[in-house]
Parts: sequence; C-alpha cells; structure tokens
Amino acid sequence: MSATVRPLLSAPEIHARIEALAADIRRDNPDADLHFIGVLKGSVFFMADLLRAMSGTVTMDFIAVSSYAGTKTTGEVRMLKDVDRGLQDRHVIIVEDIVDTGLTLHYLQDLLRARGTRSLRTACLLSKPSRRKVDVPVDYIGFEIEDHFVVGYGLDYDEHYRHLPYIGVLTS
Ligand code: IMP
Repeated sequence: MSATVRPLLSAPEIHARIEALAADIRRDNPDADLHFIGVLKGSVFFMADLLRAMSGTVTMDFIAVSSYAGTKTTGEVRMLKDVDRGLQDRHVIIVEDIVDTGLTLHYLQDLLRARGTRSLRTACLLSKPSRRKVDVPVDYIGFEIEDHFVVGYGLDYDEHYRHLPYIGVLTS
C-alpha cells in the first residue's frame, strides 16, 4: 500500500465521543437489556469501545454483509454471516462503522426488524450525509464527515489500515 493517510480524528477524540454516545444510548433506554449487533468487520473496534463504555445489561452479536470492492459501492448487499441468536422481543442496537449511501443499513434494518425486535436503533461512528442514496434513520452518530474515503479504527481499504488507532483520509 503506497497511499498515505492524513489524520482526521485522533484516538482521544474518538474515545471521548464514544463515551458520550454510550451515555446517550443508556439515557434513552434506562432499564432495557440492550442487544448490540456489530456489522463485521468495520465495527469491531467501535463495538469493543462502545460496549465497554456502557452501563447496565448488554449483550452482543455480530453480522457480516458485503457491499464493497475497493472504494466503489456495488450497490448490492450480500449476507455473509447471520446473527447467532434470535431477536424476538429484544431491544436491538445495530453498530456500524460508517453510513455512506445508506444501502447497507437500509438492508440490515429491514432484515432485523422482520425478526420481531421490540425496538431497533442504530449507532454509526461516522456518517457521510452528502453521499446518501436512501433516507435511512440513524439514531446515534459519532461524527459527520465530508465525502472522503476514510480508513483506520476498523475501516479498511481492501482489508488494509483497519488496525490504525485513529481515523484518516486515504490520499494517493
Ligand atoms: P453504504 O451501504 O454505502 O452506506 O456503505 C456502508 C459500508 O461501506 C460501510 O459499512 C463500510 O464498510 C463501507 N464504507 C463506506 N464508506 C467508507 C469509507 O470511507 N471507508 C471505508 N469503508 C467505507
């Protein structure tokens, strides 16, 4: 990988924002047993830090879908791994790294709601509002960013850069 990464959000900025998101989520659901579903693989670091910042009863599961090759969306969402447990009557929070066109989240929300969830909310670390193709509700957003391709803190370019502790813009 010969591209360079221009830092956009530092590790301390990300962690401070996640603490605030965790507090918002618990404030909105004070007594609920919350079941978090992370979207692999981009959400893993966000999920790990968000859950460790949560108070109260939480459980977690993961789902995997694929819609991207390189930096271009194919517009087609495919299920790669389903959740392990049923969602009937559960308070579910989808945890996603970034909402870009919104196609992935739209697909996931429809899919999970059809499983009989009692409530379904979505937390995204990043949002690129200018890129939206479908109007999808996102209840908790960490940061709104410009239309840049970003990597780090779970986000990849062809599986590279996920391990970076910060988020940066990929520049060639
Ligand atoms: P959407 O379906 O267009 O909203 O795309 C959602 C998925 O695309 C995310 O879960 C990411 O995996 C990927 N994605 C979108 N934008 C970026 C980016 O800037 N960097 C890395 N992955 C991205």
